[in-house]
Amino acid sequence: MIQRISAVLIATVFLLVTIGLAGAGSNGNSRKGKYLYRKTCRACHKEGATGDRVGKPLSPISKTQADWQKVFDEHKNLPCNDQWEKLSEKDLKDIYAYLYGHAFDSPSPAKCK
Ligand code: HEC
Repeated sequence: MIQRISAVLIATVFLLVTIGLAGAGSNGNSRKGKYLYRKTCRACHKEGATGDRVGKPLSPISKTQADWQKVFDEHKNLPCNDQWEKLSEKDLKDIYAYLYGHAFDSPSPAKCK
C-alpha cells in the first residue's frame, strides 16, 4: 500500500515538474507572434501608415538578432513603449520569437515585409 502511494506521489511530482518546466522554458510562438505583430505593431510601422504617431516601416529583416535582442531588453526606452505595455508578457514573447527568429542575420530571414 505504502509503495503504491509513493508511486503515485512520485508520478504526480514528476508530472508537475514537467509541466512547470515546459511553462517556464517555453519560447515564444513565432506564428502567433507574426499575427500579433501585424495586428498591433504594424499599424504604425508600415509603409504609408497614417496617423499622428507613425513609426518607420519595420519588419524582422530590418534588424539583426542582436539588434532585436536590444530592442526587447530596452523597450522601456522606446517612444512607443506605451503600446508595448498594453501587451501581455506572453504576447511580447511571441512577437520576439517572430522578429528575432526571422531577423536579417537569422537562419531563416523573413522574405517580405
Ligand atoms: C501608436 C503607434 C505605434 C505602435 C502601435 C508601435 N510603435 Fe514602435 N514606434 C512608434 C513611433 C512613433 C516610434 C518613433 C519613430 C521611429 O523610430 O520609428 C517607434 C519606434 C519604434 C522602434 C525604434 C525604431 C528603430 O528602428 O529601432 C522600434 C524597434 C519599435 N518602435 C518597435 C515596435 C514594436 C515591436 C511594436 C509592437 C509591439 C511597436 N513598435 C508598436 C509608434 C508605434
